[in-house]
Amino acid sequence: MALPVERSDELDLEQLEVELLLEGIFRRYGFDFREYAPASLKRRLRRRMDGENVETVSALQDLILHDPAVMERLLLDLSVNVTAMFRDPGFYVVFREKVVPLLRTYPFVRIWNAGCATGEETYSLAILLEEEGIYEKTRIYATDFNQTALEQAREGVFPLERMRDYTANYIQGGGKRSFSEYYRAGYDGAQFPSALVRNVVFAQHNLVSDRSFNEFQVIVCRNVMIYFDRTLQERVHALFYDSLVTLGVLGLGRRESAAFTSFGDRYEPIDTDERVYRKVA
Ligand SMILES: C[S@@+](CC[C@H](N)C(=O)[O-])C[C@H]1O[C@@H](n2cnc3c(N)ncnc32)[C@H](O)[C@@H]1O
Repeated sequence: MALPVERSDELDLEQLEVELLLEGIFRRYGFDFREYAPASLKRRLRRRMDGENVETVSALQDLILHDPAVMERLLLDLSVNVTAMFRDPGFYVVFREKVVPLLRTYPFVRIWNAGCATGEETYSLAILLEEEGIYEKTRIYATDFNQTALEQAREGVFPLERMRDYTANYIQGGGKRSFSEYYRAGYDGAQFPSALVRNVVFAQHNLVSDRSFNEFQVIVCRNVMIYFDRTLQERVHALFYDSLVTLGVLGLGRRESAAFTSFGDRYEPIDTDERVYRKVA
């Protein structure tokens, strides 16, 4: 006798398949997506299912567990690398006007740019620090869990057609020179000189499973935790809190906040719009 299949059963079944897939990925490859926000996760899984020509999450799981190349492709789908130079320029205005004066008081500054994607944010920070005359005493640790993105970041070649927008962002972000001084236009894009990232270490780091690796005066992590659920956000906040020196600065950008985490009252706002905080307790 065939059992009737309700729509809600199908949804439960798909949820079960997703959970099994994520558990499988974690145990086989060590990447932990179990606490990523479900809606965006499912959208990306569906995209990979279309790309691999399979109908069910279980069929995708079969491919992923047996073929690391499929895992690589899924990883690219899951790590949304959308970024831009001087993205949300208001953040850079705040950084220049309110964070740089604090950094001038330190003999040496360590900045952690977590979830740096293909490096546009890191190059922007380097430019700003250079213009403010504090780059020489600064080291930026730019991390992401996506190796392919990090390789692009190290190369420092960004699409030429985006330079017009980046120039506008740079100016709005309080840029002090002509933006075109910073890159050389070539056939394959706008090449930013490696000298610009002389004080940057690009390294793989997974915010979900890796520990802190230093103590920082500043942590910038924008547009990353939006993909995490509350539990995971809380864990990453704990990681950042533990990694900041007292009076250290946490820059989250407009889409995230420390307010509704258990660390909310341990920071005081430096800027409420751009969600820039200072660790006070
Ligand atoms: C949308 S980009 C943000 C890039 C940049 N911070 C910005 O605001 O333009 C999100 C980045 O977070 C990275 N990411 C996602 N989950 C991560 C994790 N668990 N550990 C480290 N990086 C992660 C992705 O690979 C991606 O490069």
